[in-house]
Amino acid sequence: MKIAVLPGDGIGPEVTAEAVRVLEALGLPGLTLAHADVGGAAYRQHGHPLPAATLELARSSDAILFGAVGDPTCDNLERALRPEQAILGLRKELGLFANLRPAKVFKGLEDTSALRPEVAGAIDLLIVRELNGDVYFGDKGMTTLPDGRRQGWDMMSYAEDEVRRIAHVAFRAAQGRRGKLCSVDKANVLETSQLWRDVVCEVACEYPDVALSHMYVDNAAMQLVRSPGQFDVIVTGNLFGDILSDQASMCVGSIGLLASASLSEGTLGLYEPIHGSAPDIAGQGKANPMATVLSAAMLLRHSLGLEAEAARVETAVAKALADGVRGSDLGGSHGTVAIGDAILERL
Ligand code: IPM
Ligand code: MG
Repeated sequence: MKIAVLPGDGIGPEVTAEAVRVLEALGLPGLTLAHADVGGAAYRQHGHPLPAATLELARSSDAILFGAVGDPTCDNLERALRPEQAILGLRKELGLFANLRPAKVFKGLEDTSALRPEVAGAIDLLIVRELNGDVYFGDKGMTTLPDGRRQGWDMMSYAEDEVRRIAHVAFRAAQGRRGKLCSVDKANVLETSQLWRDVVCEVACEYPDVALSHMYVDNAAMQLVRSPGQFDVIVTGNLFGDILSDQASMCVGSIGLLASASLSEGTLGLYEPIHGSAPDIAGQGKANPMATVLSAAMLLRHSLGLEAEAARVETAVAKALADGVRGSDLGGSHGTVAIGDAILERL
């Protein structure tokens, strides 16, 4: 069992270190961890955000534990050299097309949500976001029109097989949960979305036990705040999923608690907190590592098939929260290492 550890930028290294401590504490026989640079950190060391050696390590591993990429000092580099290209490149190169982003309110945290406690307490949903297509990977460019105005453009598209395979992931996920799937699109305006909706309906025939509904993305954003408890599994494209998953995190109470898995057709997966590099608090030892620890739990479950160990880690995090362990993101005073210690004690 070989895990590539890619800490990246900002708070990435701090939060990843705590997740590594948790993985090591499990004492799994045959587990090896190999670190490599990624993002802005890799650009500074090797001149590229995703060096060939890092990609090779990731490719040859069973799973990837990823911190975060993003560094404001790199914002003026040409796009191909910016830190974000590292995560986009890994997703594309390794065929990591299925992004699972669970959002659930931990007991005792109902009050930290931006929503009323009784609304927040009902949240237990999973966003299944497509990761290899959409406007993220279409043709894009900047030109100057004949009259001198500058124009930027990004092409949104999905091919039917891309929609079909993410739909299958989402239907199967719904089968393992409460049997409800909501497909989110903008079919009232976009052709890409019309195809999306048509294909999801076709796939639905194979899953008569799942109740499928459709929602436009603007309405979904509104419903996520109005009554998030209505959702079980949400399946959506790359761009809408990016936005809705950040929104879901705040409904839960903190973006510092949300884990994610990016899965391929096989068992290889990349696991990362959804919060990003948070450069404003980097290096201060106050980032909440719980999202990364929970991502490590997803790694154990999805790539290594270690369900019992995954549940053990998740229970330890839930216990720490129930016992009042709170990072600064939740208005508490526990620092990164103190939270790691608290989780380890409860393992
Ligand atoms: C995410 C992030 C990335 C994305 C960025 C860093 C490219 O926001 O994983 O949600 O847009 O997918
Ligand atoms: Mg995002």
